[in-house]
Amino acid sequence: MCYKVFNEDCFDWMENQSENTITAIVTDPPYGVKEYTEKELVKKRAGSGGIWRIPQKFDGCTRQPVPRFSVINDDPEERKNVYLFFERWARLAKKILVPGGHIFLASTPLLSDIVGSALRSAGLEKRGEIIRSVCTLRGGDRPKNAEDEFPELSVIPKALWEPWCLYRKPLAEKTVAENLRVWKAGALRRPAIDRPFSDFIQSEKTPKIERDIVNHPSIKPQSFLRQIVRAALPLGEGIVLDPFSGSGSTLAAADYLGYDSIGVEKDTEFFRQSLHAIPKLSKLYGQTTLQI
Ligand SMILES: C[S@@+](CC[C@H](N)C(=O)[O-])C[C@H]1O[C@@H](n2cnc3c(N)ncnc32)[C@H](O)[C@@H]1O
Repeated sequence: MCYKVFNEDCFDWMENQSENTITAIVTDPPYGVKEYTEKELVKKRAGSGGIWRIPQKFDGCTRQPVPRFSVINDDPEERKNVYLFFERWARLAKKILVPGGHIFLASTPLLSDIVGSALRSAGLEKRGEIIRSVCTLRGGDRPKNAEDEFPELSVIPKALWEPWCLYRKPLAEKTVAENLRVWKAGALRRPAIDRPFSDFIQSEKTPKIERDIVNHPSIKPQSFLRQIVRAALPLGEGIVLDPFSGSGSTLAAADYLGYDSIGVEKDTEFFRQSLHAIPKLSKLYGQTTLQI
């Protein structure tokens, strides 16, 4: 098994790839679109805020700043930008995926409709939505600056799950079986012979041991990634791509599973960190503790 990481913009990288070369994509894109811009990264690295910081005063309580604060709102211009970003991305993904290749794409309940329609209009088939159960700090709060007046209200539900959109490039062969024989893609690998891959995955916040290995604001846990990366290559053959690879966590999960993978990360600092992090994350927990 092997992995490669490229320090590039994934749109450029995908443009330059040949058709039908990637077996599956597992990725967690920058949802605010502006979230990972140069300007926001500079602010974050200077320790002067940036969009990852939830205000210290929030919901009438004082909190520690936490990573990643979504800045998406219902501004039509912003919604249009998200749609265009994902439509362009999905057209490139469709080109490089083999027929029947799956895409697992992290989303948020506030945006998955826009992202889904962009992926569909690019010609990808919706195959389901995976619920990753995880207690986030988003939502649930009382009306701002009126917490005492409305103690019994929440303005928006507290988010206890994260949707992962599941899409597939249409098959090229007549049946799934034939597509699997020709392209090694078209279905999802079961966690065990007597257990189908299912769309609810009990998850957790990324453990400290993983966050101590690599300082990335959006690192996903190995316990979850190992399950979906495993499902992404139905026959355990081919290449998994993470075009927004961040800390390299998807590649680490692939490495753990003995899969080949490719990552693309635009930011040079995250790219460098991922080179050190991948082998360390991959070795965590041993081979026997994975609950799949
Ligand atoms: C939400 S994070 C991914 C985190 C990753 N799943 C992990 O567990 O570490 C998105 C990543 O995409 C990178 N990124 C943003 N735009 C990009 C682009 N156009 N091409 C490649 N990487 C990009 C950001 O720098 C960031 O590291």
